[in-house]
Amino acid sequence: MTPPEEPRVRSRGEAELDVRACPGGPLLVRGAARVSVDDDTWHDTTRPVSVVCRCGASALRPWCDGTHKVLSRRGVNPLEAPSA
Ligand code: FES
Repeated sequence: MTPPEEPRVRSRGEAELDVRACPGGPLLVRGAARVSVDDDTWHDTTRPVSVVCRCGASALRPWCDGTHKVLSRRGVNPLEAPSA
């Protein structure tokens, strides 16, 4: 099984970022950020807190849609699941 690629998070401008990983789930990003989960596509966010998928199974990537919880209930480690 190939783990999904870790999302990359960058600050937009001079914004301070606070990035925290939820165990078995998404990254919580506080502050204006740019997020990428592949090579060249960057997604801007200005939300106070953005929830970024780390499992690769979200239909809303790069944002978490809660699918990691479904995987976990099925006994699958969301962070080791193959990307959707
Ligand atoms: S971390 Fe929540 S759907 Fe991937």
